[in-house]
Amino acid sequence: MSEPQRNIEALLSERRSFPPPQAFRDRAVVRDPAIYETAGADHEAFWAEQAGHLRWSRIWDSVMERDAPWVTWFKGGHLNATVNCLDRHVEAGGGDKVAYLWEGEPGDARTITYGELLEDVCRLANALRSLGVRKGDRVNIYLGMIPELPIAMLACARIGAPHSVVFGGFSAEALRDRINDAEAKVLITADGAWRRGQVVPLKANADDAVRECPSIEHVITVRRCGNEHPFTAGRDHWYHELVAEQPPTCEPEDMEAEDLLYLLYTSGTTGKPKGIVHTTGGYLTQVAATHRMIFDIHDEDVFWCAADCGWVTGHSYIVYGPLANHTTGVMYEGAPDWPDKDRWWSIIEKHRVSILYTAPTAIRAFMRWGTEYPGKHDLSSLRLLGTVGEPINPEAWVWYWTVIGGERCPVVDTWWQTETGAILISPLPGITTLKPGSATIPFPGIAADVVDETGASVPLGGGGYLVLTHPWPAIARTIWGDADRYVETYFRRFGPDVYVAGDGARRDEDGYFWLLGRIDDVMNVAGHRLSTFEIESALVDDAKVAEAAVVSRPDDLKGEAIVAFVTLKTGFEGDGEMLAELREHVTKVIGPIAKPDNIIFTPDLPKTRSGKIMRRLLRDVARGNSLGDVTTLANAEIVELIHDMVETVPTDE
Ligand code: WTA
Repeated sequence: MSEPQRNIEALLSERRSFPPPQAFRDRAVVRDPAIYETAGADHEAFWAEQAGHLRWSRIWDSVMERDAPWVTWFKGGHLNATVNCLDRHVEAGGGDKVAYLWEGEPGDARTITYGELLEDVCRLANALRSLGVRKGDRVNIYLGMIPELPIAMLACARIGAPHSVVFGGFSAEALRDRINDAEAKVLITADGAWRRGQVVPLKANADDAVRECPSIEHVITVRRCGNEHPFTAGRDHWYHELVAEQPPTCEPEDMEAEDLLYLLYTSGTTGKPKGIVHTTGGYLTQVAATHRMIFDIHDEDVFWCAADCGWVTGHSYIVYGPLANHTTGVMYEGAPDWPDKDRWWSIIEKHRVSILYTAPTAIRAFMRWGTEYPGKHDLSSLRLLGTVGEPINPEAWVWYWTVIGGERCPVVDTWWQTETGAILISPLPGITTLKPGSATIPFPGIAADVVDETGASVPLGGGGYLVLTHPWPAIARTIWGDADRYVETYFRRFGPDVYVAGDGARRDEDGYFWLLGRIDDVMNVAGHRLSTFEIESALVDDAKVAEAAVVSRPDDLKGEAIVAFVTLKTGFEGDGEMLAELREHVTKVIGPIAKPDNIIFTPDLPKTRSGKIMRRLLRDVARGNSLGDVTTLANAEIVELIHDMVETVPTDE
């Protein structure tokens, strides 16, 4: 039996199910299951109704227009995302409500109301305009989790300049490539970011990157850590000096629904990250609707999405969704184990957090650390829990439900992707009976299916490719500068009407979806998407490496761990020093998240007769499975050799 097969058998034998607690159901935002039928009968009417929750300066001419695979939503409609996230709440008298309860890693804190946030956004928006940024110009953002990060995103949205946020844990080279692909005019960064008591030198990285970024005209630096860094006159500006001169109001750009809101780079199956393109009207409609209904948002809630704004989860559920719904959110800058392993629980107690949204990898780390850390704090304010990013194993789900949720908080397991923009498969917590390990069923107005190799729907009980068979408002409109790759990646396999997610899935007899992980060469390491090819490119970029193949193996903590098979050029030896050097090199090219957990030096790699590396075999080797069919191999003996070597290689860390 294959690994996923074994997993799914285990999952399906999980008989536990959890109907919504009565007290929760009685107060839920969505209580009537008829919403599924109504939305299913007329997707467009459903989404138009959701769009009606936003403020439009001009109503759309058409809800959806489709020239598959291309689609538009709310064409002809005009709106500005920041007016929806800020101005309309302030105008309605909600300016004093807290937008962000921010916690710095060293223990400092800030409380920012909607009124203050609007002023901060306007000042920076004016500053960007004063530097010559106009509608359509791209602005790169490379920051830690400080309030200036959402402020910078919103300032861009205010003036119609698409932002491209690069996760602060990425290296200078990764930043450089993303800036150059987007041809950004301005970069917003900070002197540093706090991480486990250390300063991550963001500005120094940014300087290294920008040296090779001809499009960058200005660099704006937030002072956060007070660390020293060089200043380039004419190009560099202090954030606080720039905004000090600016008025606290700023005319918002009137945006068309299909105008770009942002780009966000994510890994695909090649070495070059894809700039995922999100537009304004459909995206905002869906992030607001999913946030309100799935997280059951009430006015008094304190919502904590513990992701980083560098990933799509932060874009949709720290910034745009919660702010559009006038929600109070928590933002935390640092590591969960700093200064101790109870940091999150102390934040929940301090701010009386009612909804927590995080990733299975974090939950597994907390499980490993033990119940004494959450046990030290009062978590009774929590009423709903969520997860995202990878399949959650039932044990982790049940731990989350029991230890963190006190057996009273529904757990919403939400499936979606950078490309989908918003959650597509998830429970509605007041309606859905939960099954640990299943993301349950598609959100109202979403049509998902599981199909076989031929594209035929697989009957309930079977597994195959997860596909979406009807467009949804927040779908990525294209890949920046590469429309062909967009079509090729998502709409080639089963034709232009069917979006292929790249995940395997199985539906049980009740029609519940069980996600089985990626079926392409994309890995999911600690909730971060990485492509095998990207890491292979980083390895062969080292002058001593002849060839490299990267696969993943299951890991208790991170979901998947990275295993690299490396052939060195003659004259070099695969010793401990080389291992350290290569791991350091990958960190430099991509970032610490891409560092291989194991590196196995081999004299050759298994290849087909046409020269293609047989990753499938290497995956089997890395996972200790018995070897599959090797008859198509040109060099079959090498697999046995590698297999023997793996058993002698200790797991790193
Ligand atoms: C995986 C993150 C199982 C999946 C929002 C998807 C999940 C990829 C879940 C997207 C879930 C995300 N259950 N798998 N609830 N949520 N995934 O683009 O493989 O960083 O294709 O977006 O994460 O990762 P991305």
